[in-house]
Amino acid sequence: MTRNRPTSLDATIESPWHDVGSSRVPSAVYTDRAIYERELDRIFYGPHWSYVGLEIEISEPGCFKRTAVGERSVIMIRNRKGEINVLENRCAHRAMRFCQERTGKVKTLVCPYHQWNYNHDGKLLGVPFRNGVKGNGGMPADFELEDHGLNRLKVAVRNGVVFACFDHDVESIEDYLGPDILAAFDRTFDGRKLVLHGYSRQRIPGNWKLMMENIKDPYHPGLLHTWFVTFGLWRADNESRLELDRHGRHAAMISRRSEKVVSNVEEGVTSFRKNMELNEPLLLDIVHESWWGRDTVCMTTMFPNVIFQQQVNSLSTRQILPLGPDKFDFVWTHFGFEDDDAEMTERRLRQANLFGPAGFVSADDGEVIEFSQEGFEQDKNFSTLCELDGTSVGPADHMVTETLIRGMYRYWREVMEL
Ligand SMILES: [Fe+2]
Repeated sequence: MTRNRPTSLDATIESPWHDVGSSRVPSAVYTDRAIYERELDRIFYGPHWSYVGLEIEISEPGCFKRTAVGERSVIMIRNRKGEINVLENRCAHRAMRFCQERTGKVKTLVCPYHQWNYNHDGKLLGVPFRNGVKGNGGMPADFELEDHGLNRLKVAVRNGVVFACFDHDVESIEDYLGPDILAAFDRTFDGRKLVLHGYSRQRIPGNWKLMMENIKDPYHPGLLHTWFVTFGLWRADNESRLELDRHGRHAAMISRRSEKVVSNVEEGVTSFRKNMELNEPLLLDIVHESWWGRDTVCMTTMFPNVIFQQQVNSLSTRQILPLGPDKFDFVWTHFGFEDDDAEMTERRLRQANLFGPAGFVSADDGEVIEFSQEGFEQDKNFSTLCELDGTSVGPADHMVTETLIRGMYRYWREVMEL
């Protein structure tokens, strides 16, 4: 078990925040190395659950996937009993990140450096030349294998989705999400067996929180995304609701595609292209699924590292892997359900083209994050303005608000003591 409590060293950060509240966010929050290190300690390695993957990615005993929590490399692996472990990818001997494959299937985990090997629970099984060679050397007599296993994270599995946490005292995943966000989660992950459709990966040169902000920002999709606006998938006048957990750290943006247009919100919106047509109309071959209810979109941000996406028939998890204050890797895992027929699977794969690094509505999100980061770097004394619909934090029944962003920063300031 690893505890990562704030050290006395990091208590010396001077808060860049000069006002109360969370509606103005200083540049340093996105650029400062010391602030980022504290985020790793308190958020990613502290009492917060991180998404690590889907159960179906490791279908059999010995199957593993390498991923990360914060910047620490971890391995999600299934043991012989079928249980899922998340083990730190660091040999107990000399700290080697011994696993370099992205996925695989193994009998034991072996560090190539000195061939220390571990079972699927991270238990050390053997050490070469432990008793020396011809009476020379070897480990001390009091060396015990059980004292030198791999670091095991606490694991939670809910309806096929796997979460891990370095802090074993963390609350349950259900309490962590709270009732409203749990309901948004369970709407998609209701226990149906999942099917893996594939991955997209990208590296975005911006602060990791900007991606969370992007999916807590219902203001931009109807403006930035030509595709959404022009083909009516997201309009500022769609019926919608925004929900948060009691801390304001997680959120869900839920909306309904309008059956008929009641107002011309696209008037004056330059991203609306009246003459734009699809060469492949099947991209918009949307088929209503009964589990949606009346809502066609549900975007859930689970603090700190994952977004659960349902945009019409396209489903994905989007994992954030921070790599310093100014970049992160973003991994999209596209999935469907076992009871999907061949046509629905085809449709989900087709609609996956809307998203991902080159997606019609996501390439531009990556780009605006990059350009925002450049703005923070160029003026360290700047503070962003998140005051659309006031300065308070709470649920809403419309999209013209930045309340979810304020919610995240209200919580962030508490945890970070800044
Ligand atoms: Fe967007």
